[in-house]
Amino acid sequence: MITPNMHYADLKESYLFYHIAQKTKAYLEENPGTHLYRMGIGDVSLPLCDAAITALHGAVDDQAVKERFHGYMPECGMPSLRHTIAEHYRDRGVAITDEEVFVSSGASDELGDILDLFDRSCSALVIEPAYPAYVDANIMAGRKIVHLPASRDNGFLPAPCEEAKADLLYICSPNNPTGAVFNREQLQAWVDFAKENGSVILFDAAYEAFVEDESLPHSIFEMKGAKECAIEICSLSKTAGFTGTRLGYTVIPEALERNGMHFHDMWVRNRTTKTNGVSYIIQKGGEAIFTPEGQRQIKANIRFYKGNARILMEALDELGIWYCGGKNAPYIWMECPDGMDSWAYFDHLLHNMQIVGTPGEGFGACGEGYFRLSTFGSREDTIVAAKRLLESK
Ligand code: MLT
Repeated sequence: MITPNMHYADLKESYLFYHIAQKTKAYLEENPGTHLYRMGIGDVSLPLCDAAITALHGAVDDQAVKERFHGYMPECGMPSLRHTIAEHYRDRGVAITDEEVFVSSGASDELGDILDLFDRSCSALVIEPAYPAYVDANIMAGRKIVHLPASRDNGFLPAPCEEAKADLLYICSPNNPTGAVFNREQLQAWVDFAKENGSVILFDAAYEAFVEDESLPHSIFEMKGAKECAIEICSLSKTAGFTGTRLGYTVIPEALERNGMHFHDMWVRNRTTKTNGVSYIIQKGGEAIFTPEGQRQIKANIRFYKGNARILMEALDELGIWYCGGKNAPYIWMECPDGMDSWAYFDHLLHNMQIVGTPGEGFGACGEGYFRLSTFGSREDTIVAAKRLLESK
């Protein structure tokens, strides 16, 4: 008889964002035609920028012409896109080679797939509250998870400590869900800790484009010694609106090795076996993001979302509700009012104000009592949602 992967029995019944989508669907079935103010999952509301759209159209046309048609793509990414992304790092003073960049179909896919590189006996540190996929992907593999609680006392940015020792260290900065960002000194401390303990950092940089304080790092590879202990996973989802189009990239330094095994070479072996590459059309669309025009356009979109953040933050200020994030990240992490628990507050907002957010408990037990608002909605929805919050005073 086939034995299923019994670790699935250790998972929560449903994934956080799926569960929220189901609750929202049930509400709409009971209240048909109701408009919802969606600030739950971090899905963008602005369309792709013109530079990407023009490149996507051009690539579709290429596929119609024998001389320009592309079939299977190089598994690790189109060389011109790998070069463009590596140049983007080099322009910011981070020396990586083109070959150290791997094109992916997005950070969430990659965060799960990359675990193939590590033995199931490896333990994984998750700083909580955390993006729930870190936990779920490791439960599915039967790995031991070390939970390090973050709190308001440490600005949701805990320092490495004895209890944080693990083989894999997940670090997300700017953080999802709290919006907190490690400064250089704090991030360097995690790199030093990883090196001392032989750990590997999985650095989730999906929100790096939202960093506006110049002193804050965008990449783990800005830190000394990170090439010997880190993998960086990036995405164009939030940076450039590719949530549905799907494109990301991962940087694995050639210097990263353990037990004589080089993770870079292992990932080439993995990708060449398990994928046929991201589609030509999508990679061409992504390449356009790194042109001066593309950069100008996506920065304008990011500024727009920051405008949403300001509207929500002003409302919370007026209500006297504690929050963090919103400045260098697209999420606002707020305290639930009146001591409400986070799922009760979710129901309250949905039923009384038609606002959908994300309960803090969904990001781990120490997220209880908090709530996450995404700033990726439309301006109109954000303004109405802020007004409804204020009227609830
Ligand atoms: C989130 O809302 O946390 C993210 O949008 C989810 C994701 O990127 O998969």
